[in-house]
Amino acid sequence: MQAWVIGNWKQNPATSHDVKALLDDLLTAVSTKAQLDGCQLMVAPSLIHLTAVSERIKGSSILSAAQDISAHSASIGAYTGDCSAQQIADAGATWTILGHSERRQYHQESHDCLLQKMTHALTQNLGVIFCIGETQAQYDAKQTLAVIDAQLSVITDLLTQQPELMAGLSERLIVAYEPVWAIGTGKVPTVAEVSATHQHIKQTLASFNTALENMTVLYGGSVNADNADSFAADSMIDGALVGGASLKAESFLAIAQAFS
Ligand code: G3H
Repeated sequence: MQAWVIGNWKQNPATSHDVKALLDDLLTAVSTKAQLDGCQLMVAPSLIHLTAVSERIKGSSILSAAQDISAHSASIGAYTGDCSAQQIADAGATWTILGHSERRQYHQESHDCLLQKMTHALTQNLGVIFCIGETQAQYDAKQTLAVIDAQLSVITDLLTQQPELMAGLSERLIVAYEPVWAIGTGKVPTVAEVSATHQHIKQTLASFNTALENMTVLYGGSVNADNADSFAADSMIDGALVGGASLKAESFLAIAQAFS
């Protein structure tokens, strides 16, 4: 199974100049590393840099994603600050992240909002990296699987409301398990914990529809060049969604090599 290593740059880097430097480093490193076979790389820059990044990586093996899309279905309209799935596709991205915990926390993104966004993305042929994961309090209360089940119900609702989107969904949907307490903290769950949670996610998706058997499930949360090998060694972990360590070509590539 192909591994995926996706860099979520969040609200970084600070300037266009720094974006170009990061991308140049990444493209140079990718072109000289033959051992990246079997690992698909993707970067999700800030929206303001998405077009330039997508243009720059054309012809390389790297894909680009948006970090979010509008919840409104209209391709254009009076939605200040929003960017539609159509506009994202026009900017050159082929995927979008949805449901990142920072969107859920700072923008109150709800089940219904994420159902709308997922519908619009898939309808416009954007692949979706759907983020799920529990908070520290939920982890401490041993509610991880219950939280994940509730978050995955967006997918069952999608399939009930838009059954036509089922076609090819296994290639256009990736789930990223990111415990909120592990994001940017340097704290990580054990590989055994991640593996068991991923197994649950894969079984749950397969129970929705047999076409969703063996779906790609990534781990995210303080993945770095030092711990990537241990995650990559587990057969339930199909890659990584990387924040901080994706902002340096060297550490991002080291993670990709671990999964190759
Ligand atoms: O989307 C990426 C995650 O939020 C992980 O971020 O690698 O900085 O912990 P991090």
